[in-house]
Amino acid sequence: GATPTESGSAAAGGTDYGLITAGTLTVCSDIPYKPFEYEESAGSGKYTGFDVDLLTAIGDKLGVKTQFQVTNFDTLQSGAALLAGQCDMGASAMTITDERKKNIDFSDGYYDSLQSLLVKTDSGIKDINGLSGKNVGVQQGTTGENYAKEHAKGANLVQFSDDGVLWPALQGGQIDAILQDLPVNLQHEKDDASYKVVETYKTDEQYGFAFAKGQKESLRKAVNEQLKALKDNGEYKKIYDKYFST
Ligand code: ARG
Repeated sequence: GATPTESGSAAAGGTDYGLITAGTLTVCSDIPYKPFEYEESAGSGKYTGFDVDLLTAIGDKLGVKTQFQVTNFDTLQSGAALLAGQCDMGASAMTITDERKKNIDFSDGYYDSLQSLLVKTDSGIKDINGLSGKNVGVQQGTTGENYAKEHAKGANLVQFSDDGVLWPALQGGQIDAILQDLPVNLQHEKDDASYKVVETYKTDEQYGFAFAKGQKESLRKAVNEQLKALKDNGEYKKIYDKYFST
C-alpha cells in the first residue's frame, strides 16, 4: 500500500526500510527494565538485555546497526513517540494489547509474560488481598498499572514514570509492594534474597516490537521474518537461555 515514509531511492530497492538514519535501526526503549533492557554498567551508555540482544541479532540479519534511544514508557506505549518519528521502532518488553493497536502496529509476539507481586519477605503480605492500605508501586502506562487498578482493592497506587525508581522505592520503604511483569520482579528476587514474588497473575501477555501505525510496514515485515529465522535456527533460544535459564 501507500507508505509515504518509505519513499526515496533506496526504499525503491526495498532495502532501507525507510529508516530515519540510513544503515541504523533507531530503537526507542524505556531503560532500565532488567533483564529486557538495561545499562551494562552504570554510566557506560552501553545497553544489554534480552530485547537488546534479540533486536541486535535481527538488525545484523538486516544489515543495519541497532541503536537504542532511552524513551519514557508511557510516551512509547501510547504510540506518541513512534508517531512523532522519534525512532524507527520500539522495543520495551511491551505487551501487545488491543488498546495499543489503535496507534501501534506490533511485530509477532516474541516473549510470553505474566503479572506478579513483589514484596519484602518479612512484610507479612501474602497476596493481592493483603494490599489494602498499602503503597503499591507501578510503572505508569503499563499493564501492571491496569491490573493493580482493577484488582488491588483498597491499595494506594503509587505511579512512577521510570521503572528504575520502583526498586529503590521498595528497598527504601516508600512503597510496600511492586506490581509488574513477572520476569522483572523475579530478577529483583534473584538480586536480593530479602524480597520475594508472592503471587503471579495469569494475564497471558505477549511482548511485541512496536511500529508507528501504518508507517513502517516493510520494516515490520522484515523484523517478523528475521524473528522467525532466529527461532528456527536456534539463535533465539541461545539469547533466551542467556537471560532466563536458572
Ligand atoms: N509489559 C508491560 C507493558 O507492556 C510493562 C513494560 C514496561 N517496559 C519497560 N521497558 N519499562 O505494559
